[in-house]
Amino acid sequence: MTDSMQTDSVDPGRTLLAVDDLRTTFSIPAGDVKAVRGVSFSLDRGRTLGIVGESGSGKTVLARSIMRLNIGSNVTTTGTATFAGRDVLSLSMSEMQEQWGMEMAMVFQDPVTSLNPLVRVGRQVTEHLRSHLGVSRAEAHKTAVSLLNEVRIPEPEARLKAFPHELSGGMRQRICIAIALACEPTLLFADEPTTALDVTVQHQILNLLGREQRDRDMAMVLVTHDLGVVAGRTDDTLVMYAGKVVEQSPTTSLFASMRHPYSEALLRSLPRTSHASHTRLAAITGRPPDLIDPPSGCAFSPRCPYVQDRCRDEVPPLTTGGSGDDPDHAFACFTPVGSPEGAEAFARNVSDGLPQAVAVDLPTGDQMSAPLPTGNERIV
Ligand SMILES: Nc1ncnc2c1ncn2[C@@H]1O[C@H](COP(=O)(O)OP(=O)(O)OP(=O)(O)O)[C@@H](O)[C@H]1O
Ligand code: SF4
Ligand SMILES: [Mg+2]
Repeated sequence: MTDSMQTDSVDPGRTLLAVDDLRTTFSIPAGDVKAVRGVSFSLDRGRTLGIVGESGSGKTVLARSIMRLNIGSNVTTTGTATFAGRDVLSLSMSEMQEQWGMEMAMVFQDPVTSLNPLVRVGRQVTEHLRSHLGVSRAEAHKTAVSLLNEVRIPEPEARLKAFPHELSGGMRQRICIAIALACEPTLLFADEPTTALDVTVQHQILNLLGREQRDRDMAMVLVTHDLGVVAGRTDDTLVMYAGKVVEQSPTTSLFASMRHPYSEALLRSLPRTSHASHTRLAAITGRPPDLIDPPSGCAFSPRCPYVQDRCRDEVPPLTTGGSGDDPDHAFACFTPVGSPEGAEAFARNVSDGLPQAVAVDLPTGDQMSAPLPTGNERIV
């Protein structure tokens, strides 16, 4: 095992998915894009895992790699992804197709492109049911109505007759969720399922996914760029940066004590409801790295407020903290947030005028007085 760690407590009975050293590279004319660089994790049946990171950190490529949806001759995926005892990365495409819908399903970011605009919603739901479950047209229709009821779509019979463009964004995403749930998968990937929606609808959709996940004892991987979304909605969280896991933890423990400077920066960049309009929002200084030629040492070093010389040469391993720390909470940093060495490095960088440290040190008005998510709030 290399850059990221498997949760120690893997129980073959409860473990649904165990990913080990997964790497995905795209060969393009400019070079090899190393989109996922050695990710390992495990997910138990009925549990929810959040995968968080900025745009380009490799979240979607990771999820699509496990689903075997990165298709093309320029893609290479190595490692293993053992799902219900079988390594899905070594299945043939026809064996994999049997998994899609029935065992693993995915809700995509954009409900507009997920649905065929030329086909009525009802046919899209019933064809999915008929092709996977081999049921009659009448049975498929009955199931479709009950699925739409379940995802709280009013007047389901009428909605089934509609074309996608006749429905709101939130309704379309509910239809996509109904399709994904239709064959009762044991694992659902929800890849930024609410990004295209307004805030109120976002909450409704996330709550709906949470309810379905719990009611069906289905495992779920919730992919998001927004750390606030995983608080209260996931059991465990992976924070990804430049294709690697930089922090991996039970969600409550992560919010109780963020150890990686990148996770801390993501938390600081969350907008908070009590923000006065003039209050500066803390953006993460600098840009995500080039994945064709990632920085040597720690990939976050060019942007990290805690950086020291060592970080530019050596790659920090993903390890747990000392005694007294949660043994399932791992992070990849030489001088983590909350350590005396981290505080020293930060103070030195501020006094040396390092821009990313100075930016964090600036007073930010009422920004810090607004409540941050704690990870404890269970959303219903
Ligand atoms: N088909 C492809 N060919 C080449 N590079 C790709 C391909 N798909 C993804 N990438 C690159 O892989 C990296 C990771 O992309 P990915 O889509 O996984 O990011 P993400 O974390 O899901 O970001 P976002 O939050 O924007 O969805 C990016 O640098 C992206 O440009
Ligand atoms: S302190 Fe060093 S090792 Fe830790 S995140 Fe910053 S650059 Fe990386
Ligand atoms: Mg993505």
